Amino acid sequence: MRVLVTGAGGQLGTELARAAWPTTTDLVALTSRELDITNKGQLGAAFDTHTPDIVINTAAYTAVDLAESDEATAMAVNADAVDLLAKRCDDAGAFLVHLSTDYVFDGTASGWYLETDPVNPSSAYGRSKAAGEAACLSGTERSLVVRTSWVYGAHGPNFVATMLRLARERDELGVVADQVGCPTATSDLAAALIDLATLIDANAGAEHRIVHVAAPDATTWFELATAALATSKLRYAGTITPLTTEQYPTAAARPANSRLDTGRLHAMIGRRLPPWRDTLPSVVGDIESMHWGDTHD
Ligand SMILES: NC(=O)c1ccc[n+]([C@@H]2O[C@H](COP(=O)([O-])OP(=O)(O)OC[C@H]3O[C@@H](n4cnc5c(N)ncnc54)[C@H](OP(=O)(O)O)[C@@H]3O)[C@@H](O)[C@H]2O)c1
Repeated sequence: MRVLVTGAGGQLGTELARAAWPTTTDLVALTSRELDITNKGQLGAAFDTHTPDIVINTAAYTAVDLAESDEATAMAVNADAVDLLAKRCDDAGAFLVHLSTDYVFDGTASGWYLETDPVNPSSAYGRSKAAGEAACLSGTERSLVVRTSWVYGAHGPNFVATMLRLARERDELGVVADQVGCPTATSDLAAALIDLATLIDANAGAEHRIVHVAAPDATTWFELATAALATSKLRYAGTITPLTTEQYPTAAARPANSRLDTGRLHAMIGRRLPPWRDTLPSVVGDIESMHWGDTHD
């Protein structure tokens, strides 16, 4: 199968470009400099050159707080470009796998969010991603929206990497403890995307239009930071204080409950992702050796 990955310089795109694909895969991973998905001409050229069977769109405007003051750019990348991409896929007979987010939900549900639950974003980023989901689903019937959450990995800025850095700079950390979600490692997400692409290539995976791909268990940002520092080589001796959302104001509202049910993923690929605590130590190790070497042992 010929697979085209967009946004290949991002944390998920980098992971997908380096992941273990089936040997029969012809993988092309293009960074934003190589393919700007808002540019119709560049999109057309990429399709003509690479003739993909499957496109995995990880390209996105992900600056959640900045989007509050720049919703037009968020919409251009996260929604208008997805419309272009979906229609181009439809014309070319390619299948579109499009990444989306738990932030399409308002977080007021008491339980786990199902794929069938209505979206109701409470931020500009969430609105742009919800519009992108709609564009993906209406632009081509051969498409799948993959919603994920709390993404972290070895490549690129993310919450875990930020905590590891801040712990090297400060004796006190304050972390929000009243938002729950499913921390999802890019390595686990990439492995599930490979399984989904393999199903799609075998014409066996397109019966659903939306699937949640996230860790099967949930935690808070505070617990995630605590667990990351506990497994870190740093042996952090400072304090980590649990904060309320009110005590840590941000430009964009975040859902208090981001828990994504992954029963549908299990039905589709025969497994769920590993629990978040299982993958965290290896990612922490990778981040630390990439940024700080082995000097803390
Ligand atoms: N990060 C999370 O916690 C999280 C949670 C839930 C869902 N998601 C979703 O998961 C997907 C992957 O996220 P990620 O964490 O890998 O994001 P990321 O690290 O921010 O990467 C996004 C990539 O998209 C590229 N990009 C931006 N505008 C583009 C354009 N016009 N054309 C082509 N590429 C463009 C960026 O390139 P530049 O750096 O050059 O702009 C960047 O390399 C996204 O759809 C995101 O919404 C992420």
